[in-house]
Amino acid sequence: MPKVLVFDFGAQYAQLIARRVREANVYSEIVSHQLSAEQVNEIEPAGIVLSGGPKSVRVTGAPQIDPKIYELGIPILGICYGAQLIAKQLGGVVSQFDAGEYGRTRLRVTGGNLFKGQPEEQDVWMSHFDCVTEVPEGFTVTASTQNAPAAAFESTNVHAVQYHPEVSHTQYGQQTIERWLELSGVSRIWTMENVIDEQVTAIQDQIGGGRAICGLSGGVDSAVAAALVHKAIGPQLTCVFVDTGLMRKNEGEQVVETFQKTQGIELIHVRAEDEFFSKLEGVTDPESKRKAIGELFIRIFERAAGGIENARFLVQGTLYPDIIESGSEHAATIKSHHNVGGLPEDMEFQLVEPLRSLFKDEVRSVGSELGLPEEIVWRQPFPGPGLGVRIIGEVTPEKVAILQEADFIVRDELKKADLEREIWQSFAVLPDIRSVGVMGDERTYGYPCVIRAVTSEDAMTADWARIPYEVLESMSSRIINEVDGINRVTYDITSKPPGTIEWE
Ligand code: XMP
Repeated sequence: MPKVLVFDFGAQYAQLIARRVREANVYSEIVSHQLSAEQVNEIEPAGIVLSGGPKSVRVTGAPQIDPKIYELGIPILGICYGAQLIAKQLGGVVSQFDAGEYGRTRLRVTGGNLFKGQPEEQDVWMSHFDCVTEVPEGFTVTASTQNAPAAAFESTNVHAVQYHPEVSHTQYGQQTIERWLELSGVSRIWTMENVIDEQVTAIQDQIGGGRAICGLSGGVDSAVAAALVHKAIGPQLTCVFVDTGLMRKNEGEQVVETFQKTQGIELIHVRAEDEFFSKLEGVTDPESKRKAIGELFIRIFERAAGGIENARFLVQGTLYPDIIESGSEHAATIKSHHNVGGLPEDMEFQLVEPLRSLFKDEVRSVGSELGLPEEIVWRQPFPGPGLGVRIIGEVTPEKVAILQEADFIVRDELKKADLEREIWQSFAVLPDIRSVGVMGDERTYGYPCVIRAVTSEDAMTADWARIPYEVLESMSSRIINEVDGINRVTYDITSKPPGTIEWE
């Protein structure tokens, strides 16, 4: 299977580039820019993309690639920083021009193989201060903008663009990437069906006749991982679903319905609500709450797993971004925080991670292909500690019941308005305060409910969703009318940063 390597120079561009290449049905992986020519040779990639990055190529110590890589004859595409790096390493000149360019910029195409079939004038997304002012020998300038005289340049098998073809704001971005793949002679044959076939074989090879267990959280990752492993080893897989009582309305039943009844997967359903509620009695500090939930979850899981004889393999829904992120310092802290509710490292299992090379949207496609229902495949991310971190202050069964109803209405109204897939996460939060209201002739003293809905690409940053007023209005009136205990509804208009998506 042909593979395109994306050399990472920082920022988050590399991930997006890899996703776009995969959308063009070519498998793509992110690698460190420090890979040596020998290492690259061993991998035998069909092409290399040099990503953008936050540094200037003109400062000392700016990251670069092993110059011998240019001699391997592998087709290269340089993007933004990557384009400037090509110019610098191959003998061109990178300097500061009159001004930088940020955001939508008009590009004038003057020739070149890369732009074949594209209009002479088009909008591209730029983010640069430096620019290439002289291209290396053997290269031709193929496009320019007002402040980038060499906004694109190419030789026979090295192409470079100053703009970002990977972002959706670049009009012909995907087309440019696909054209580069075509020019590079890369076969576009990577599909979800072959991902499934490949993984099924790999799982069978790894597990053989052994037994595996998988903890289901109700989320899409563990669901798809379980379905994939089940396809590979059938009854050798047992799933464990710990019902914490902190899930959304009807979610527990849905997990049981989907896995046990529809997919025929052996499922141990542990109803642990009471244990969780008693553990959470009097706990108000967010971190203590997370810890309490996480620890109890592990204990209960271990108890259930202990009953499955000879289980040596543990299936986990680790995704590709988890792996890329755990390579960087920043991400390491994010992970430890999000691992609450995860499993302990000292469990003596061999891990089975069939999704470790996939992005979220690809996992969803695999899920659909495997016949999982839409509600599971399109489920929004949900924190391990569940509604526990959406109830400020002490978590009680009464508060959970109130929040489940309000939360259900928020999501139901978004579904009716057909906005579900545009929104990254939408939910209700129950703060630990009460306020005065009036209903009929009666004075009320109830909880407010906060609606939180955000758009995001990866949860690292997020913006509050511009939900139409009419939709907010229906949410508000339904929540007040249908949920006993809530007498006021507010909408959270904080982006991340400075806010976080969750309230605790
Ligand atoms: P924040 O609130 O940090 O959340 O902006 C970012 C994303 O992570 C999810 N989240 C969690 N996921 N365990 C998880 O598995 C957790 O403890 C946890 N806390 C937050 C959150 O829902 C959002 O998608």
